[in-house]
Order: sequence, then structure tokens, then C-alpha cells
Amino acid sequence: MSGNAWQDDRGNKDRSITRTDGMGTSQPVKGTGPARKVAGDSAFLIGEGMTGGYGRGADILHDCTIAVDPGEIAVIVGPNGAGKSTAMKAVFGMLNIHTGSVRLDGEDITGLSPQDRVRKGMGFVPQTSNIFTSMTVEENLEMGAFIRHDDFRDTMEQVYDLFPILREKRRQYAGELSGGQRQQVAVGRALMTKPKVLMLDEPTAGVSPIVMDELFDRIIEVARTGIPILMVEQNARQALAIADKGYVLVQGRNAYTGTGKDLLADPEVRKSFLGG
Ligand SMILES: Nc1ncnc2c1ncn2[C@@H]1O[C@H](COP(=O)(O)OP(=O)(O)OP(=O)(O)O)[C@@H](O)[C@H]1O
Ligand SMILES: [Mg+2]
Repeated sequence: MSGNAWQDDRGNKDRSITRTDGMGTSQPVKGTGPARKVAGDSAFLIGEGMTGGYGRGADILHDCTIAVDPGEIAVIVGPNGAGKSTAMKAVFGMLNIHTGSVRLDGEDITGLSPQDRVRKGMGFVPQTSNIFTSMTVEENLEMGAFIRHDDFRDTMEQVYDLFPILREKRRQYAGELSGGQRQQVAVGRALMTKPKVLMLDEPTAGVSPIVMDELFDRIIEVARTGIPILMVEQNARQALAIADKGYVLVQGRNAYTGTGKDLLADPEVRKSFLGG
């Protein structure tokens, strides 16, 4: 055992660079540098130069790059309709990109289905419909383990240790839970696959500021175990404060990229996206 709850038997065990104060960066970058340079060619998970849209519709993403490295929390912010969810879906394989590529741990996975990406180690919590409301909390977690053929009870205990309220409510229907508790179920479900990387689309949507803080604390805790986290957030200020790396997307393009700290300090970013 490495002591790393989620990562035993997986790669990416280096916890040494995990940052929890949101005040550091593993690479010295300017707040407005090109995203690809900030991401680096060798990022652990990278959607690079992605251009594409839904079906035969117009392109939504334009040369968009997002990436995350071990020990990092990377945060994507931007106005409504900017293409944040679309970028996450593109990385997860839910829409076709006609330019660009997605790589995980050095492997080109651009052509893989979402199911196969889960098998490769991607955990994804979508923005909407991310739990089964008519199933119990525990059944939701069991569904999360669908790709596993081994004994997943230890992982379930780890999820319950991370989110104790879920242990208490494990026999309740997920649909009866509060918004914050549902988000915990959704994150827990994704963790049941023992992912190598966790992608969260607005994990704090619709919850109170106190619950948001608690969820962020839990997300930091997961990141500390070595799982890189790529997440979209509406609560831009708070999310950038815990971000090692931040992306501001506008109309499907990278508008600003840098460390969370740099973006929070950037006057243009503050004025346009953080309310001054
Ligand atoms: N399934 C879909 N089919 C066609 N177009 C879509 C689909 N989903 C989103 N779009 C369009 O793609 C664009 C980007 O939407 P997206 O949901 O990625 O934005 P977002 O940044 O996640 O916004 P929000 O902050 O509201 O979640 C919008 O113009 C939207 O109308
Ligand atoms: Mg969205």
C-alpha cells in the first residue's frame, strides 16, 4: 500500500507537488500566456488545440486547450455559454473534435469512446443529471464501480470516510438528498472507479457558500491523494483561490491562462470575469 487511498495499483503516485494553498505554481507563467505553453506538451491529461462542436452544428470550441498535471487542481472559468462544459465533454469523448487531440498519461485517446476513457482512468462528473435519483446512495456508488471486477468495498469505505454524511444516508434515495449531498454522491460515484484523473463540471452549483467551502475542502483532500482534478466553476474567485492552474474561456477560446494566483491578480480578468 502506498497509503494513497485512491491510487494504489495506479501510476501517478507523486504527491510531493500537491498544492493546497492555491498560491503556487509548478511552472512560472504569465497570467495571459498561451494555454498550450502553460499546459505543456507533456501534461498528464490534456485536450490540446480542440476545435469542434455538436453533431453537424457550428464549431463551439476553437483551438481550445485545457490540461491538468498530477498534484494539481486546474480550474476552468468563463461566462455562461463560453463552452466550458463543451470543453469537458470533448476531453471525455462526448463530442467529436475535428482538430486537436486528447492525451492521457502520454497516450493519445482522441479516438476512444467515453466508456473506454473511463477504463483508461478518467472519472467525469457532468454538470447535470449526475446521479440516479431513484436509487439509494449506496446503489449510486455501486453503479460507479460498474467497470470493476474486483472487490470495491474498500473504495466505498474511502468514499464514506471522505463524505461521512453519505454513510449515514446510504439507504436513502439519492433524490431525497440536499444539493450539496447530491454533489457528494456524484463525486463519490466517480471515485468508485479509482480514477487516475477526476473531471468535475460545476461541483458546487446551486449550493450555499458554506456547503461550497466544504465541497472545495473535500476536493482539495482528493487532490492531496494525488488525483489531478480538472474542474469547471461558476464561483470563479473561490475556485481560482484553490487552483494551481486556471483557464478563462470565452466563446470557445482560451482568453486567459495562468496560475490561479496570477489570474486573481490580473486587472483585466478581475474587471471582466471576477466582478472587479
Ligand atoms: N448538446 C448540445 N447541442 C448543441 N449545442 C450545444 C449543446 N450543449 C451546449 N451547446 C451550445 O454550446 C455553447 C457552449 O455551451 P456550454 O454548455 O459548453 O457552455 P458553458 O460554458 O458550460 O455554460 P454554463 O456556464 O451555462 O454551464 C452554447 O452556445 C450552447 O448553446
Ligand atoms: Mg456548463
